[in-house]
Amino acid sequence: MRLLITGGAGFIGSNLLQQIFRQDPPEIVVNLDSLTYSGNLKNLSNLESHPNYQFKKVDLRNATDVSKVVNTYAIDHVMHLAAESHVDRSINSPEPFLETNIMGTFNLLEACRQNWKESTGPKRFLHVSTDEVYGSLGPSGLFTEKTPYQPNSPYAASKASSDLVVRSYGRTYGLPVLITHCSNNYGPFQFPEKLIPLVTLKALHGRPIPVYGRGDNIRDWIHVDDHVHALWQVLTEGIPGETYNIGGNQESSNLDLVKTICAILDVKHPSSRPITETNQVLPHESLIEFVADRPGHDFRYAIDNRKIHQTFHWEPTYNLSTGLEQTITWYLEQTDWWQDILDQRYDLKRLGIQD
Ligand SMILES: NC(=O)c1ccc[n+]([C@@H]2O[C@H](COP(=O)([O-])OP(=O)(O)OC[C@H]3O[C@@H](n4cnc5c(N)ncnc54)[C@H](O)[C@@H]3O)[C@@H](O)[C@H]2O)c1
Repeated sequence: MRLLITGGAGFIGSNLLQQIFRQDPPEIVVNLDSLTYSGNLKNLSNLESHPNYQFKKVDLRNATDVSKVVNTYAIDHVMHLAAESHVDRSINSPEPFLETNIMGTFNLLEACRQNWKESTGPKRFLHVSTDEVYGSLGPSGLFTEKTPYQPNSPYAASKASSDLVVRSYGRTYGLPVLITHCSNNYGPFQFPEKLIPLVTLKALHGRPIPVYGRGDNIRDWIHVDDHVHALWQVLTEGIPGETYNIGGNQESSNLDLVKTICAILDVKHPSSRPITETNQVLPHESLIEFVADRPGHDFRYAIDNRKIHQTFHWEPTYNLSTGLEQTITWYLEQTDWWQDILDQRYDLKRLGIQD
């Protein structure tokens, strides 16, 4: 296998690469990433000198560069993760989402179509998408692979659009495409603007912890290790043309999740608990502040895992409490990793963690 991973320097991509290199890695693994604010090569420093690993700093929006990588490395398998991925950013500035997520995906599909025309041997194009394309659920029900698309944010709309272009390349040109829709991921290396690391770092810095609305929106959380394991099974065992939903079976309201993180920190890092003027020590939970709800905020996401379970016997191995313990321990131990992001590479005022 000659594998191209896009977005390998991001959160899920880094964890995927680490898992691939912990096993028996393919002959060549090329990581194509333009290193936006969320891409971080430090996540992969242990792989730099591995003979089977190559990093290419390429922007998916540049069709010529993308095609060159596919051609030069004779790529035959693709795991496409690169994307603009943060919903709040898509609300403030949708254009890069449409450019990278739709046109970038198109450039990659086209590069594969052109380069794979003449060559024989097995090929696969796995497009990593999100459950957010399905829109919002009420208090009951689950997203299946047949749920109609109803994306509500520019991020979700851009991912839904790219899914449809991927599908059309399967139907029209016979490209062996596979699509996955996963629920909310968490785990090591997640950029600090996302909910779980953001709450953890705000609490450690004694900053107000913002919770949208009343915090009753519900998400289905999956540990990133479980997600990347499923992606590998879909790539190697999936049937081209098929779509697979991947979820952690771990639903939680945002408020319950934030309270759980605070409770874990009360035990693991009691020194950051807030202290009142009268020297009373408060739990981290006292930092919670309810803020105006996100526009178009989906109420609930939940995944029906039956297809991927029945097809590959895949099932999540983490529950939310063990996964959160492990993840928060990682953030407590890897202070250099996030302090570097806070110091060097990010507009701190945006995060509200430091002045
Ligand atoms: N994080 C989640 O909870 C979740 C859930 C379901 C699906 N997904 C999907 O998984 C994928 C990865 O998500 P993530 O959380 O790791 O995101 P991330 O933001 O951490 O990483 C994205 C990576 O893509 C790269 N990138 C962005 N624009 C690029 C461009 N134009 N050219 C080349 N590289 C570019 C970035 O540098 C970064 O390394 C995305 O496609 C996302 O839609 C994420």
